[in-house]
Formats: sequence, structure tokens, C-alpha cells
Amino acid sequence: MPRPALAPAIVVRGVATRWWALSEWSLLPLRLFLGVTFAYAGLQKLANPAFFAAKSPASIQVQMSGAARLSPIHSFLHALLPHAVLIGWVLAYGELAIGVGTLLGLKTRVAAVAGASVSLSLFLTVSFHSSPYFTGADIVFFFAWVPLIVAGGGSRWSIDAFIARRAARQAGFCLAPLVALPFDTVQRLCGFYHEGLCSARASAACAASACPVLVSRPPQVTAVSDKTFDRRSVVIGASTVAVVASAAAVTGLLTTAAGHLEASAVTGARNSTPNIRALAGSGASVGTGSAAETTRTDLGPATSVPVGAASTFTIPSSGDPGIVVQLTEGNFVGYDAVCPHAGCTVGYASSQKLLVCPCHGSQFLAATGEVVSGPAPHGLTPLTIVEASNGNLYLQ
Ligand code: FES
Repeated sequence: MPRPALAPAIVVRGVATRWWALSEWSLLPLRLFLGVTFAYAGLQKLANPAFFAAKSPASIQVQMSGAARLSPIHSFLHALLPHAVLIGWVLAYGELAIGVGTLLGLKTRVAAVAGASVSLSLFLTVSFHSSPYFTGADIVFFFAWVPLIVAGGGSRWSIDAFIARRAARQAGFCLAPLVALPFDTVQRLCGFYHEGLCSARASAACAASACPVLVSRPPQVTAVSDKTFDRRSVVIGASTVAVVASAAAVTGLLTTAAGHLEASAVTGARNSTPNIRALAGSGASVGTGSAAETTRTDLGPATSVPVGAASTFTIPSSGDPGIVVQLTEGNFVGYDAVCPHAGCTVGYASSQKLLVCPCHGSQFLAATGEVVSGPAPHGLTPLTIVEASNGNLYLQ
């Protein structure tokens, strides 16, 4: 049977109502993106043993000491450096907890405040010198958290909202669905409105902010039931947080174990040492004996840097990490390993012959130090490395 046609006015009103209802979903894409990103970032750190290995260029120790050189809060970072591993664990599990909470809409405002704090810390330490400023992701993440701090997780696909509804039902409340109405409809229906005045407010001017119909409470909402409702919300919320936190902790532990197992399997299969080692030279600075007397620093035996591999050392004049690569037999190149983008320490990707920054992915040609890709504004600072007749490498 054909449906009766709706009057045009009702159709218009119906469409408007449905579009209003869409606003309930508006925070969901942001929640999903931030939740997945933070949970992934936490799990990635937990799965990567190199993140906690001081000698790896991707480690939290190296990243923190790199950031401490250029960050506006460098004194604070220097004080935290001895606790870098602990900070790494807190960061990894913190990001996982923030991600899961945001994804599920569980204690969303708490998760959003924590997420904004992490993003702000990363902005001040890692991406503060990004130029232009909007090329650093952390400042964008910081502002992306703000709507969730202000509005919470919303009413859709949110455990917070589910708990509130359930606690309300158990306390005897009836939570009616919210419907958007134009205020002139309220004025027509309330019975107090006449020619711009409100008889319920001693004929004061009608105003939505003071409307007695909109601010009135249902008669069953008493102080006692308010308390019961709050207590139920707290109990159900705390139990849910405990269950979800336990599941997240177990997931984190399993991820860490899987990461270590995979890393040891790969190392065992290759039966090799890492391709970046610290050079064990004397570090002594000696005169060259030339007419224009210069000093050079002993970096140790050239055999410590196999062909196609890299080693690290400390540059005495600046205290920065240096990196030396033997590109081909007897062809050594060296660079200040501090990434010119935001100060992280680059590592060597031997298969691509690139020096790669673990923080934001800048890549540099190993042969020349030039930027290949990424946000770094210029190439690495080259160093002069020579192999002396005694078989040692020297930094000139
Ligand atoms: S510090 Fe940002 S790419 Fe290196």
C-alpha cells in the first residue's frame, strides 16, 4: 500500500530533527582516532625492546638526551635522564591506558586530560622547534584532546554514558532521550508565554536561560535519589575501570613478551651483533705535528666499524653524539648525529644506506648527510674522520 505523503512542513521539521541528532555522533571519529593512535603508540613501545635499550638510537634514553639539548625545559629533562627507563614504561603503559579509555569512552575526560598532558610534554621536548609550528604533530594532538576535555566522550558508543544510563535505571530514573526543539515551540507549549513575557516569572521578559519549564526537575529527582544515583555510578564505574585496566595490563605484558621473543629470534637467526656499536677509542686529543697544528681525537680501531655498518662516539668539543659509517672498504664518513629537526639522535639503516631519525622520520644520505625526506630543515653536520697508519680512526 502506498505511503501517505507527508506535509512539506513536517518533512522539513523531520529532516532538521535528524540532522540535530547527528551531533550526538560528532565526537566519535575524534575518539576513535585518538584512542587507536595512543593505544598503538603504547603497544609499539612495549613491543620494541630497542625502546628501552640505552645503546639503541631509538631508545627512550637517547631520545630524552637528544631532546634535553634543545628543549625549553632542558634543565628539567636533564634531571629526569637517570630515570629514563622508568619514564619509558610509564609513557608506554600511560599511552595504552589513555588509548583504551578514549576508545571505549571510559573515564573519557580523565583520559583526555592525560592525553593532552602527554601531547604537551612531547611538544615541549620533541617537536618544539618544528618549523612552521604546525608541522609538528604534538601541538595538533594537544588541541585535538580539548573537545573531549570539555564535552566528555558523548552519548554514543561510550561506556561512561552506558554506566550513567544503567545507574539511572537502577536508581529509578527514567532517562528520556534528548530531542532538539526550537525555543518558539517551547513558548507555544509552556502555557506561561504571552507577547514576549512570562507569567510564571512575574511577567518578566521571556528568556531561554531563565525558562522555568527548561530548568524544572522531574518530581522524582530528590536529594536522596541523587546520592543513590552517584553512588551507583561510582561503583559500576570503578568496577569497569578495574576490569578494563587489568585487561590492558595483561595485553601490555603479552605484547612486551612477544616483542622480546621476536627480537631474540631475529638476533639468533642472524647470529650477528647490532650494526651500531659505540667506538672504544682512547678519546685522547693529540697534535697532528703539522705546520698548522690541529688536534684530533682517537676513536679506536677502524676494524670496529665493519664495511656497511656504523658506530657511535661522543664529539669532545660539543658533547653531541657522533656517528661514523664505513660506506665501502676504507671509505669512512662521519656526522654529528643530532637531527637538525628537533634534536633526536639518528641511526644507520644499512640496507638503504640512510641515516634515519627515529622521532619524526627524517632521512639523510649516508654518503653526504643531505636530507632525503622528512621535516629536518637541512642536512647533518659533517665531521672529518681519517684512518691513520696505526689502524685507528681519528676525528679531526
Ligand atoms: S627530530 Fe624530528 S625528524 Fe629528527
